[in-house]
Amino acid sequence: MIIKYIELSDFRNYEDIHIDFSDRTNIFFGDNAQGKTNILEAVFLTGTTKSHKGSHDADIIRFGKEYGVIRALFEKSGVEYKIGIQLRKEKRKAISLNGSPVKKASDILGIANVVLFSPEDLSIIKSGPEKRRRFIDMTLCQIDKDYLFSLSSYNKIVNQRNKLLKSYDKRNDISDTLDIWDDQLIDYGKRIIERRSVFLNDLERSVNEIHKSISGSNDDLVIDYKKNVNEDDYKEKIRARRDRDIIYKNTSTGPHRDDVEFRINGIDVKKYGSQGQQRTVALALKMSEVNIIKDTVGDPPILLLDDVLSELDLKRQQYLLENLGNIQTLITCTGLDEFVNNRFEINKCFKVTNGNIEEVKDE
Ligand SMILES: Nc1ncnc2c1ncn2[C@@H]1O[C@H](COP(=O)(O)OP(=O)(O)OP(=O)(O)O)[C@@H](O)[C@H]1O
Ligand SMILES: [Mg+2]
Repeated sequence: MIIKYIELSDFRNYEDIHIDFSDRTNIFFGDNAQGKTNILEAVFLTGTTKSHKGSHDADIIRFGKEYGVIRALFEKSGVEYKIGIQLRKEKRKAISLNGSPVKKASDILGIANVVLFSPEDLSIIKSGPEKRRRFIDMTLCQIDKDYLFSLSSYNKIVNQRNKLLKSYDKRNDISDTLDIWDDQLIDYGKRIIERRSVFLNDLERSVNEIHKSISGSNDDLVIDYKKNVNEDDYKEKIRARRDRDIIYKNTSTGPHRDDVEFRINGIDVKKYGSQGQQRTVALALKMSEVNIIKDTVGDPPILLLDDVLSELDLKRQQYLLENLGNIQTLITCTGLDEFVNNRFEINKCFKVTNGNIEEVKDE
């Protein structure tokens, strides 16, 4: 899968730009706050329909403007897909595929697969559980439409359930409504738990292999799915905690409270691992994400590396760049440091200055 070009109008600090990408390694360099990450955000958004920073559309549109537009051309297994996204201040995004409007944002999900890797991802092991759930969800939503549907249905019900809990405090008033919602919640929740279990098994295999090669060890890495609730006693538990939920006005049971634990040779990496160990596992996770998407979709995703190379030591940088194979990569960095110049081939290089992009050719 490759992105051939992108056009941005009134997107972040870009007024009007067109970038033709190389199908291999593209570097975006420039000082801080010039717009490097904004490019990756635009590419990520065309793949996932969301900002990787979790920004709202209104904040992404260029200051003082009403609309922002992204147009991008992708090629996947020899077929071209043209995606157009209009961001609007007050309304939902308007999205088109090959010139025709699509009804739901989710209709374009999965067309362009992207994996974004930023320094924040290097702390996925020690961050809160929501970061680890997000990793699972971002990957699965790109490769499994049923999962995407279950997850968005589940999240909607949790939100509605919480609203209901907030608006009532007498048990009898809401018991019947909760009964109906809880049945649906459990139905979608179980599908999420089952899919996550399968995914984490596949992930464990892949991460283990990569982790062994990066660390040069024979360490045994275990990914342990810490389910908040088991499929079998889901109904019992949610009923048992209903009074508690009414008092605290939130939903305390279900996969939105799941977590994942990583253990190397039996030792919890979050609690006892060194920073280096935690980063190696994080790197292995991201590389596995690429591999799993590639194996499922049959085409590798586009890799977006936001400022991440400078955060990795030489050995890990090299491992990452040498083991990704023929994959299109967009890399941001502040300078064209030697480490970038000497150690892998750059196919296109762009200098980013205050919302302007200029291709730099070899002297
Ligand atoms: N909605 C917007 N409209 C106009 N400009 C914006 C908008 N949102 C962000 N910006 C500007 O974009 C710039 C930040 O861009 P970006 O995050 O891509 O920088 P960067 O080159 O990645 O910097 P760094 O090296 O620090 O990561 C800032 O100057 C910010 O003011
Ligand atoms: Mg940046």
